[in-house]
Amino acid sequence: MDDIVIDGGKPLSGEVTISGAKNAALPILAATILTGGRFTFHNVPRLKDIESIQHLLVSMGAEFVRDGHTVHVDTSNLKDYEAPYEQVRKMRASILVLGPLLARMKRARVSLPGGCAIGARPIDLHLNGLSILGADIKLEHGYVEAAAKRLKGGEIYLDLPTVTGTENLMMAGVLAKGVTVLRNAAREPEITALADVLNAMGADISGAGSPVITISGVKKLKPVTATIIPDRIEAGTFMVAAALTKGDILIKKCDPSHVEAIIHKIEKSGAAVEVSENSVRVKGGEAINSVDVKTMPYPGFATDMQAQFMVLMSVANGFSVISENIFENRFIHVSELKRMGADITISGSHAMIKGRPALSGAPVMATDLRASASLILAGLVAKGTTRVSRVYHLDRGYESLEKKFKKLGAAIKRVRGGS
Ligand code: EPU
Repeated sequence: MDDIVIDGGKPLSGEVTISGAKNAALPILAATILTGGRFTFHNVPRLKDIESIQHLLVSMGAEFVRDGHTVHVDTSNLKDYEAPYEQVRKMRASILVLGPLLARMKRARVSLPGGCAIGARPIDLHLNGLSILGADIKLEHGYVEAAAKRLKGGEIYLDLPTVTGTENLMMAGVLAKGVTVLRNAAREPEITALADVLNAMGADISGAGSPVITISGVKKLKPVTATIIPDRIEAGTFMVAAALTKGDILIKKCDPSHVEAIIHKIEKSGAAVEVSENSVRVKGGEAINSVDVKTMPYPGFATDMQAQFMVLMSVANGFSVISENIFENRFIHVSELKRMGADITISGSHAMIKGRPALSGAPVMATDLRASASLILAGLVAKGTTRVSRVYHLDRGYESLEKKFKKLGAAIKRVRGGS
């Protein structure tokens, strides 16, 4: 397993180009199950999670060819309808094949994902929605067994605006007979990106990006060429890096409209933010102000940015409170940040942070994807050396993060086969 080693204290400056969004690419790749023919996607990030969905699609009979950041997928010869435990265990988002498999193959067998480091993460809303669309669902031997001759439209109210749940149900609804209405749907940009691709394929979806999505079932879909939207969480991570190191970073090829909540909080923390059509420039201020943050479904402040923002607050002037409202256990990075000198107290879903003048480098362990990014950010600003182990979590969702930081002036390196 690799480690990342950082000598902190260097202000980061220069330009960075944002990669394609993992959480947009995953459902779009799953959507290729819906119809045969050759799909082409540009700006697909090189990530472990993308490899995981690749393996899953290939195991079902798909052809998957990568050429740099372009990917060609053809599911014409799909034979299997199973996502085995071994695949789903590696990546929960494998559940995204459930809706499209049911729609095209009339049945699906997908391992139950189980909990993960950040919370229990049930899939009851996915399953409830699919049964409203006429699927017969059984849970057996740790698997979801679902079957439906032809899905039919239905009215689905989601108790929570689940992101992958909304995506699964949208994909299930496109080939269903009749109209499906999703209420309290997730509004994340990745939902809109998926709906755009599905509509280009011939689907009839309206309202994506709003809480009510209407899907009129169609009989046939066709393959398309599309470009994956930029990763808003990667962009936000670099925004924090600029504010944190009091540097000056031009974040290129991002969509500023997707990071409004982050921009708002970064500005309140004292950094200057300049927004252009496809870029955001963040210039760290003299001092870092304390700012309270509550994570919320989009367009609120993303839970996927909570750990990174906490690092900024760890070196701010004064107290701040960060409330995690999406996942019940997403503070696992706190104990590692405390080992680096952060003063953080957890009470339920709230983290009380007393800003300190500095953090100090230490050996720390990454526990999940966004926690890994937060430990690297902490290492960038800490005095001395930080060694982050178990960075395979990072490789699941950030493309060449350490190389991008290095280009911006960080003293950072990957040590192959570390601890
Ligand atoms: N929930 C239920 N029942 C369900 C589905 C969700 O109770 O059937 C709960 C979850 O336990 C959680 C809340 O609803 O408390 C929201 O979870 P959601 O379903 O929206 O999360 P997700 O779809 O599993 C996606 C992202 C996550 C991101 C969350 C929240 C993908 C592949 N994953 O997960 O990304 O944190 O939305 O925005 O899109 C990451 O990239 O690091 C990551 C974890």
